[in-house]
Amino acid sequence: MNNNFLGLGTAAIGRPQYINIRQESTTEFSLTTFQQKGIAVLDDAYNRGIRYFDTAPGYGMAEQLLLDWVITKNDPSIEVATKWGYTYVANFDPTAAQHEIKEHSLKKLNEQWTISKKLLPFLSTYQIHSATFETGVLDNENILNRLAELKNKYGLLMGISTTGANQVAVIKKALDVEVGGIPLFDTFQVTYNLLDQNLSTIAKEMLAQNKRLIIKEALANGRIFPNDQFPHYEHLYTTLATLAKKYDVGIDAIALRFCIDSIAPYKVLSGAANELHLSENSKATHFKLEAKDIAALKEMSISSDTYWTERKLLAWN
Ligand SMILES: NC(=O)c1ccc[n+]([C@@H]2O[C@H](COP(=O)([O-])OP(=O)(O)OC[C@H]3O[C@@H](n4cnc5c(N)ncnc54)[C@H](OP(=O)(O)O)[C@@H]3O)[C@@H](O)[C@H]2O)c1
Repeated sequence: MNNNFLGLGTAAIGRPQYINIRQESTTEFSLTTFQQKGIAVLDDAYNRGIRYFDTAPGYGMAEQLLLDWVITKNDPSIEVATKWGYTYVANFDPTAAQHEIKEHSLKKLNEQWTISKKLLPFLSTYQIHSATFETGVLDNENILNRLAELKNKYGLLMGISTTGANQVAVIKKALDVEVGGIPLFDTFQVTYNLLDQNLSTIAKEMLAQNKRLIIKEALANGRIFPNDQFPHYEHLYTTLATLAKKYDVGIDAIALRFCIDSIAPYKVLSGAANELHLSENSKATHFKLEAKDIAALKEMSISSDTYWTERKLLAWN
């Protein structure tokens, strides 16, 4: 099975609450069971041929879980990407008011690196978690110099992840960042999906510059699935249902495959929290969309502003 295009994002297996449209769970939370489920998802992904795993200190126990697991696998074909800049603060309390704190400081970078470097030699990619103009991280020379130092010393690919309606502007700025006359950033983890296709305006240029594109939120945090709360997506739902029938897969596989066929990224992340979703998501690698179907799906995009306004209203569930 060729699962080369898929990576596993570990946000959902690292902390009990995450941004999506799921109904609140009524079963009592058990840390041990949660941990065991997470390991089962990692094993299942590996058995399906997935070798790219994305994590972050902000994803609760995910980074530690991945570290413990990757050592037991000891397979040099495994590639891990992590990030720095968010601290998880909810202590696995499903009712916590605050889940994470953002801090793009040199102190936070150095503090989180001391843990994340344990992922070496599997660690290939180190990313600024959610680079924005507001934190000034892309202008902070101390941080940029430190990232260049880590990149050279450990042979890492250096990256950013982006979020929000101005993703493309942030990417453009990051593409211009140089340290010692050499471009700093090699990888870009970006939100791209049927609803927000803004990345397509710059993707070709990035690929021409040999940059790696990693797609996150390919299922629009669950918004591609039929839901009474979003009647304005009725046309999207029926288009996806028709294509799912045609290719004999679920609509999640159609949405993931759209990312692969329309952008040619290095990886598309599955955010699966269980083996059922992972097995359904994996079907994206079993077929290719016809050009006319890609064209029809390109018509589904909405404005980035609308997309991100709606995303801000989604709850942590
Ligand atoms: N850098 C960043 O700032 C950032 C931000 C977000 C994500 N990420 C990375 O990207 C990864 C993926 O993102 P994501 O999980 O937020 O977004 P996503 O893939 O767009 O959405 C996942 C949602 O789809 C649902 N789902 C998946 N497969 C399904 C299926 N077969 N049937 C029904 N529902 C299905 C999940 O349901 P359930 O809720 O029931 O599980 C969840 O609500 C994360 O794990 C993380 O590594 C990074």
